[in-house]
Amino acid sequence: MMTIQQLLQCFEQGGALAYSGEPVTQLQHAWQCARLARQAGASEALQLAAWLHDVGHLMTDLEGSPTERGIDDAHEELAARVLLPLFGPAVAEPVRLHVQAKRYLVSHKPGYAQSLSADSVRSLALQGGPMSEAECTQFAMLPAAREAQRLRVWDDLAKDGELPWPSEELVLAELEALMGRCLGAAEGPPA
Ligand SMILES: [Fe+2]
Ligand SMILES: [Fe+2]
Repeated sequence: MMTIQQLLQCFEQGGALAYSGEPVTQLQHAWQCARLARQAGASEALQLAAWLHDVGHLMTDLEGSPTERGIDDAHEELAARVLLPLFGPAVAEPVRLHVQAKRYLVSHKPGYAQSLSADSVRSLALQGGPMSEAECTQFAMLPAAREAQRLRVWDDLAKDGELPWPSEELVLAELEALMGRCLGAAEGPPA
């Protein structure tokens, strides 16, 4: 079980690491992804899922781009297990499914596969490749399938090495405040 403070520490310690093979750091990628979610009018839970979708990379000791070495770090499962008890399924499920969503979109959305970066294509093969028709049908029935696809599209776009950003301190304060609000939402009103 992790705390909000420990999640913040993941970014404080590993946020400056390169985001596998892309021109942004882990922290920039996470912040850009959440920014796209906010601009799209996503719920705060989905904004937080966007923020934290790759925090699993920062929970492992694998440096740089694990897929270059043929390793799938299963970062989505790792993160979802930590996020579920803290923020509930509205945050944890889109995170858990964001890799499956890529496999789904490759099979289902014309032109999507061509839009992927080299590292995404490399990891796709490690993650099982495009979904079969049967897998697509199963995926589409999951309650968070739509949110996971939305998250995936922001994920793919959140790699802009030119986009200016406030500062590490400010964006981490933003993340801490959002986590605080989502923590309360997951617990719900007192019975
Ligand atoms: Fe990811
Ligand atoms: Fe990502």
